[in-house]
Amino acid sequence: MSEANKEIKSLAVLCSGGDSPGMNCAIRAVVRTALGRGLDVYGIKRGYAGLLEGEFEKMNASSVGNIIQHGGTILQTSRCLDFHQAETRKEAFHILKRKKIDALVVIGGNGSFNGAWELHNEHGIPVAGIPGTIDNDITGTDYTVGFDTAVQTAVEAVDKIRDTASSHARTFIVEVMGRKSSAIALHVGVCTGAENIILPTKDDSDIDFAAIAGDIQRGIKRGKNSSIIIAAEGETPGVSHRIQTVLRDEYKIDAHVCILGHIQRGGNPSSLDRFLASRMGWVAVDGLLNGEKAFATCFIKGEVETLALDKCLEKRNEYRPYYEGLAKALSI
Ligand code: F6P
Repeated sequence: MSEANKEIKSLAVLCSGGDSPGMNCAIRAVVRTALGRGLDVYGIKRGYAGLLEGEFEKMNASSVGNIIQHGGTILQTSRCLDFHQAETRKEAFHILKRKKIDALVVIGGNGSFNGAWELHNEHGIPVAGIPGTIDNDITGTDYTVGFDTAVQTAVEAVDKIRDTASSHARTFIVEVMGRKSSAIALHVGVCTGAENIILPTKDDSDIDFAAIAGDIQRGIKRGKNSSIIIAAEGETPGVSHRIQTVLRDEYKIDAHVCILGHIQRGGNPSSLDRFLASRMGWVAVDGLLNGEKAFATCFIKGEVETLALDKCLEKRNEYRPYYEGLAKALSI
């Protein structure tokens, strides 16, 4: 065992931010890898909020038994705004020290990674981040745990909606998650043959209503009997209903709205998410034991690697114009 290895005798794992399918697989991988390496492992309930409340649970191999297939997180999660405060992070560090915890694994998105980075930066405790969010918007990793399942859930829902849309010759606006991230909308749009994809907007000013209406009318002319518009929720709630109103009032197009909402966050993780989470959990523990101090486990060109955490703090809007182009080209 190297010098670095001896420094870490116990670690804790928590989930933070929005839950995502596969978080349980990541917890399982962290706990069992750490146990296998002879460490004490603690699960922290309810993310940073639970950390501050001292909600620690010693984990053993059975604590994570029979969870690999379940969505959500057995540790629960929270969005802890207080963790933006340096004073709060100081308190968290002292709680970890009192509990004799040498390193922290954080499973979550950008906000959670920022908290982990600050905690490390200010107090030196080693931290590992496992990207867990359905939004696929963490810089540095090609995929985040939960994205694949969320896309699959939405695709299955849109397929069902398409059955009704074609049976009744209707247009549907299907709203998917993504306040700032285009990833779900683009992937779902391509995979369901959507006629239009509306990317996240702040105030609808980017929406080209005439183009949407034109596409629908052109489709009808060439014999299509249904149209699907995939709209990302964007930053201002109600985008789908606003599109519906404009299509009705200005273009005499009747469209139905279906908001998929949080069904995209739950459900059994896909095999891709399970595999990714298992690999990331394993790499997180070994990275810490190899002496890495602040890093994220990232999926880069098919491999799970460690990347300095401060390189992964930016929110990425995976806007890839060619996905939009692809969807358009194939849904003529
Ligand atoms: O976790 C990511 C996400 O699902 C976003 O896609 C969505 O905009 C947001 O979280 C919703 O958060 P909440 O469940 O806290 O309303």
